[in-house]
Amino acid sequence: NNVIKLTPTAEKFDKDNDGVLLRNLNASGLSKGKSRIFYQPSENFEAVAVVGLGKFSTSYNADEDIDERKEFVRVAAAAGCKNLQSVDISSVEIEDLGDAEACAEGVFLSLWHYQEWKEEKKKKKIPDVHPYGIENIDKWKIGAIQAQAQNFARKLGEDPANYLTPTKFAEIVQEELTKEGVVVLAHNKEWAEKQNMGAFLCVAQGSDEPPKFLEMNYSSGSSEKPIVLVGKGVTFDSGGISIKPSSKMDEMRADMGGAACVVATMKAIAKMKLPLNVIGLTPLCENLPSGRSVKPGDIVKSMNGKYIQVDNTDAEGRLILADALAYACKFNPELTIDLATLTGAMRVALGSAMSGVFTHSTPLYEMMRKAGVITGDRVWRMPLVQAYSSRVTEYPAVDVNNVGKGSGGGACTAAAFLKEFAPKNNWMHMDIAGVFGPDGGSDISYLSGYTGRPTRTLIEFFKLKANT
Ligand code: BES
Ligand code: ZN
Ligand code: ZN
Repeated sequence: NNVIKLTPTAEKFDKDNDGVLLRNLNASGLSKGKSRIFYQPSENFEAVAVVGLGKFSTSYNADEDIDERKEFVRVAAAAGCKNLQSVDISSVEIEDLGDAEACAEGVFLSLWHYQEWKEEKKKKKIPDVHPYGIENIDKWKIGAIQAQAQNFARKLGEDPANYLTPTKFAEIVQEELTKEGVVVLAHNKEWAEKQNMGAFLCVAQGSDEPPKFLEMNYSSGSSEKPIVLVGKGVTFDSGGISIKPSSKMDEMRADMGGAACVVATMKAIAKMKLPLNVIGLTPLCENLPSGRSVKPGDIVKSMNGKYIQVDNTDAEGRLILADALAYACKFNPELTIDLATLTGAMRVALGSAMSGVFTHSTPLYEMMRKAGVITGDRVWRMPLVQAYSSRVTEYPAVDVNNVGKGSGGGACTAAAFLKEFAPKNNWMHMDIAGVFGPDGGSDISYLSGYTGRPTRTLIEFFKLKANT
């Protein structure tokens, strides 16, 4: 009695394929995000996964601050694909679940697995995906690009630090972005020295791995001012001399999450040929203890001339971003957004449901929030006020201190520190420490491991921007 007779219109499906069909079947009584598999060997397909879409009345759910219609489609498509992957199949046929873009996202995000280092025969099979039943194929393609960009960021997050060094990161980006028409410059340590990037270099100096500073340029050909994206790229953060406890230190291989989101977003917007000019900047280095490391109490000079006292070498993200943000000013940007796995305090404040965003621009915040409502990968506003600035700037001997006095509000003092170096107009800082890590996937059923969040929200923001 588990068999349901399904009679899809024959011309929609490839006669030769031995795969399966993914279809919405609310009628079967399945609730939201639930899926069951029905075997039905035929000349068209072997099995059918039916998924429940759930009930929703309006698109926007104010209680959740999310486009529920889209999110339900993602969850349903993902549940069906996951279910199908538990049986041995080689291809999946997708029927229209109502939103082609969200459907593609659910499909590609759920079918992705990090298994590069496993024996070939032990790897999960990733089935081919055939969108035969999808009406709006253009939307499907956009959804696929967005999910694949996020998967690119997830892969960079998972990659171990002995493989993904700053040099390797730069190589991968050269390869992946150059083919989409993005110009990639990988600056070295000597270049950073000429730029007087004393804050970036003091973090890098403890490691034998050479640092890199990536400058990526995507141009639509117009003469409009660029949007600059800056991403923290610490390929391993041990804390340095202010060393971290050993428990879960392995997670600090993903301390380049900001840089990963930046390169993934640039890849997607170049693929979509959005009519924007975007510059990506990612300082890349390791933070390690050694005889050459920066020490607590050391004073360094940043690119914009401010002297910084490094009271805690584990607050290294803000040091490398200080110079990257100062460098961003040179482009006279219309808008600057930085992303960083910056503080444990951000995780404490918002958990993994949302990224915390800091900006003085309410229109900019509203646009990013809207993007998060659409993608389901949401943001929430955090304060950027003098009360936090005083705690990092009021010191007798130096301009800024990298930890600041007083206690509490660690994500806010970190943002206040960055403000001392960022362009004065239209700047937003996104602290993604809560959402990029592996527990950031736990509240989103179609993600596991390093999440690659908030890549799709950033891409959506650029789409909104391109339409204004
Ligand atoms: N990379 C960490 C922040 C982090 C922690 C990211 C947990 C993801 C998960 C950052 O460099 C750091 O160590 N920050 C310190 C700052 C402190 C020393 C002022 C922190 O949050 O404890
Ligand atoms: Zn740190
Ligand atoms: Zn860090």
